[in-house]
Formats: sequence, structure tokens, C-alpha cells
Amino acid sequence: MGLMDGKKGIVFGIANERSYAYFIAQALVREGAQLAFTYLPLGKMERRVGKAVESLGITDPWLESCDAGNDEDLDRVFTKLGEDFGSIDFVVHSIAFADRDYLKPDMFHKTPRAAFTQAMDVSAYTLVAMAQRAMPIMPNGGSMVSLSYFGGEKVVPGYNVMGVAKACLEHTTRYLAYELGDQGRNIRVNSISAGPFKTLAGAGVGGMDEMIAHQEKKAALKRANTGEEVGNAAVYLLSDMSSGTTGEILYVDCGFNIVGL
Ligand SMILES: NC(=O)c1ccc[n+]([C@@H]2O[C@H](COP(=O)([O-])OP(=O)(O)OC[C@H]3O[C@@H](n4cnc5c(N)ncnc54)[C@H](O)[C@@H]3O)[C@@H](O)[C@H]2O)c1
Repeated sequence: MGLMDGKKGIVFGIANERSYAYFIAQALVREGAQLAFTYLPLGKMERRVGKAVESLGITDPWLESCDAGNDEDLDRVFTKLGEDFGSIDFVVHSIAFADRDYLKPDMFHKTPRAAFTQAMDVSAYTLVAMAQRAMPIMPNGGSMVSLSYFGGEKVVPGYNVMGVAKACLEHTTRYLAYELGDQGRNIRVNSISAGPFKTLAGAGVGGMDEMIAHQEKKAALKRANTGEEVGNAAVYLLSDMSSGTTGEILYVDCGFNIVGL
């Protein structure tokens, strides 16, 4: 028996087999969940994401294109999801974007308005946009999880505008949790603050190798976290195991955030 038996949901954010969303999907499948997926309509994403999803053992997957910065795309995806799945129990928001030109040391103060608002829109507002569309197809309550990073809390040189967007995402999590938990909605909203990890998005952040080395040296467990550990934490937050937990930021960083020096 799996922790997610009988539960259905959608995963945003697989780009390839290194994505945090991939490890989350892998853990959810292992625990018996039924999944829908989206891919960013850009370059070879459809093929890449299709391949990654098939490697999870899912043949003929529910896979739709979706630019989450586009309301029409989100409307189409959630309408089709409602038609095909009836109702859902969870949403995985594992997406973020910022112009990499500004993800370098000493570049935050140069961030133009367009790059700032785009980072906030795609990396934080989309959680609200998804919640609005998921609520009508979550009649039995549910759980939403997003992915954050310590750079949303403290200054991590080079993380810059993405850190500002993560701060927004984390507080968006709390405000959404408050409203979506009320009036019989029973939808929980939490975020995982994961350690640095070499993914496509991670590669766009200047100094990623240094960030990982720093965690290995300083964290309580003296190592980097794995993707599987993030996947398992997501299962906890998306399953009934965490039924009393909402509006929380759960660290999966081997205890890096607790260390002051
Ligand atoms: N890699 C890290 O070091 C790290 C650490 C902590 C948190 N995170 C967070 O984890 C999440 C997943 O990132 P990842 O590291 O797995 O990298 P990734 O590149 O594998 O995933 C990022 C995903 O965001 C998607 N995306 C970007 N813009 C989008 C848009 N407009 N619409 C829809 N999708 C869009 C991409 O297609 C991609 O699938 C992000 O929120 C990221 O900030 C990453």
C-alpha cells in the first residue's frame, strides 16, 4: 500500500531527469499517485519531458504544454485536467525563471523592471494563478507544494532577483495557506526549501558549484541533499501524513539553514 494510493495530481516543472520535479514525480509514482504533467513550450522540451516521464514507467502520459506566465495556457490545462481526471488532490509547483544576466554577483542593483517583474511573475505569482484554477477541481480538499531556496531568506550573492522572488513565493505560501484552509476548502499549501542542485535552472545561477561545496562543508549533515530526499519530503507534504501542516517552509538542505557560522 502506498501513501498516495487513490490520489491524483499535476506536476509542473519537469525539464529532464535532473529536475527536482522529476524526483518528486518518481516518489509520487512509487507511492501510488496518478499524475498529469506539463512542459514549457520551448525548444525540445516536449520531447525531453516526454522521455523523462516515460522513464518513470508511465506509458501514454497526460502531458500538456503550458507557459505558466500565460493565463490562457493555465485555463486550458486546468479545464482539461478537470475533464479528464474529474477532481485532483494535489499540485506540484516546481518552476522558476529569472534572466540569467542578472544572476551574477554585483548584478542585483542593475536588474531592470522587466527582468524583476518576470522573475516575480513566473516564480511566485504562478502559485496563486494555479491555486485559483485548482480550487474548483479540489472539492475534497488537497495539498499544494512549491520549491524554494535559502536565498529567499538570506543574501546569497548571485542569487539576486531569484532570491527576492523566493521570498515572495514563501510568503505567498502563507497567505494562500490561510485562505485555502478556510471555509471548508481544506487545501494545504506548503513549500520545500531545497539545497542547491545542478539542474537546468540551477546552472543559470552564478556560483552553483560554490553553493554546493559550501553546503557540503557547513551543513549539519556535512553533505549535499539528494533529489530523492526532496521527492520524499514532497510525498510527506502531499499525502495525508502531513494533514495538520500548512503554510510551512520545510527545509531539505541537510541542516544548512540552522548553522550561523
Ligand atoms: N536547483 C537548485 O539549486 C534549486 C534549489 C532550491 C529550489 N529550486 C527550485 O526548484 C524548482 C525547480 O527547479 P530545478 O532546479 O528542478 O530546475 P529545472 O530547470 O529542472 O526546472 C525548472 C522548471 O521551470 C520550468 N519553467 C520555467 N519557466 C516556466 C514557465 N513560464 N512556465 C512553465 N514552466 C516554466 C522549466 O521548464 C523547468 O521545467 C524551481 O522553483 C527552483 O527555483 C532549485
